[in-house]
Amino acid sequence: MYIGLDLGTSGLKAVVIDADQVIVAEAQAPLTSTRPQAGWSQQDPADWIAAAQAVMAALSAQTPLDAVRGIGLSGHMHGATLIDAAGDVLMPCLLWNDTRAATQAAVMDADPAFRNITGNIVFAGFTAPKVGWVSTHHPDIFARIDKVLLPKDYLRFWLTGDAVSEMSDAAGTSWLDTAKRDWSDDLLAKTGLTRAQMPRLVEGSQASGTLRDSLAAMWGLPKGVIIAGGGGDNAASAVGVGVVKAGDAFVSLGTSGVLFAASDAYQPDAASAVHTFCHALPDTWHQMGVILAAADALNWYAARIGQDAADLTANLGPVQAPSRALFLPYLGGERTPHNDPNIRGAFLHLDHGDDTAALTRAVLEGVTHAFVDNFYALKSTGTQINRLIGVGGGTKSDYWVKAIATALDMPVEIPVAGDFGGAFGAARLGLMAATGAGAQIATPPKIDRIIDPDTSLTGAFADAHARYRAAYGALKGLT
Ligand code: XUL
Repeated sequence: MYIGLDLGTSGLKAVVIDADQVIVAEAQAPLTSTRPQAGWSQQDPADWIAAAQAVMAALSAQTPLDAVRGIGLSGHMHGATLIDAAGDVLMPCLLWNDTRAATQAAVMDADPAFRNITGNIVFAGFTAPKVGWVSTHHPDIFARIDKVLLPKDYLRFWLTGDAVSEMSDAAGTSWLDTAKRDWSDDLLAKTGLTRAQMPRLVEGSQASGTLRDSLAAMWGLPKGVIIAGGGGDNAASAVGVGVVKAGDAFVSLGTSGVLFAASDAYQPDAASAVHTFCHALPDTWHQMGVILAAADALNWYAARIGQDAADLTANLGPVQAPSRALFLPYLGGERTPHNDPNIRGAFLHLDHGDDTAALTRAVLEGVTHAFVDNFYALKSTGTQINRLIGVGGGTKSDYWVKAIATALDMPVEIPVAGDFGGAFGAARLGLMAATGAGAQIATPPKIDRIIDPDTSLTGAFADAHARYRAAYGALKGLT
């Protein structure tokens, strides 16, 4: 048996799979983020440990874990978890959607070495500018940094005692030489760090260490369980839904919105704001567009009006031509294609007659238009998308997926089990690391339904996207 642990922004999910990759147990524990100031977003790493304890206890209550051989890890990317020489956390983890380091990011991005070596813009949410922000605002903390760990790698540190990362998550730090799959000493030095302060690197499907005996005894696992490198949540999800070769892609409607395409070569195009990262499998890379608030935008709107997001989308009926009202989801800035930490969201062009359902549709359409922007950005880099699988909690809304399929003019395939997420992919990586199995076990899931574009609405969605772009231009003038 193999366990996958996925440290998501809104909760930690765990699955146990057997040798045939059948899910035999699942558990989850909620997590919250705090936003103490505009543009800030953080979590306390102690909450991750508590959530991991809770899900492991829940799994062991469901099924004996004495046959577990491997564990894979997945997690939200880019967070800076700073620990001192005693292994203690120095401050809350600044998350992927935290833009407080916008100034540091702009300075680093103006140095051509970062784009040349990493293949990416230095986005405000990436790890290096965050550590730059800490160096400027908390030099005392900066001076005590023994290791900089990504969120799932902090979980690994607790599980194994070893500071290790893997290529897919490391590629989102702005310190990785993405072609060579190694830390860049040059880029680390530009941030006042050395390789000694970074975790050792493995591939996602390789072993990174073994589970501590004390934890194994607590949860009823055998000694010597292998902990795989794992992956950043998007790469791990890709492994989970078999998006591992050029032409395969997924659209993820999670807290963030992601359009992810696997690639068999390193093909960067930083100027497009498309992310070019290592995949969680050797010799594989991927291109990805990232929307900072996808389901997060819907959850924000639901919370403002005191309703449940799932209730809001449940009764929208068949997809309609996009509404007159427009919503732009830039609640905490935007990555692809704008690279703009300062832009903010908007409802525009409202009418007395706009009811809750009309505004809900506007929110779903706004995120849909943001996906169209990402689709064009990926296309502009020459990325092939032959097949698109839908993942993430937002895909429970057929309305939303139909809108996306129509706007992209491409069918979206929804897997049987719905929310595969990173946990299943992480479990697969655990299986690979423990048995030596290769990428061929990362097969596509059984498809529950294929949501086709509504071709009678293609033109209406294209017109609405043009209005959305015009609204973006107007908003830009406000920042
Ligand atoms: C990817 C990104 C998000 C997070 C949270 O670059 O920032 O998708 O990984 O899921």
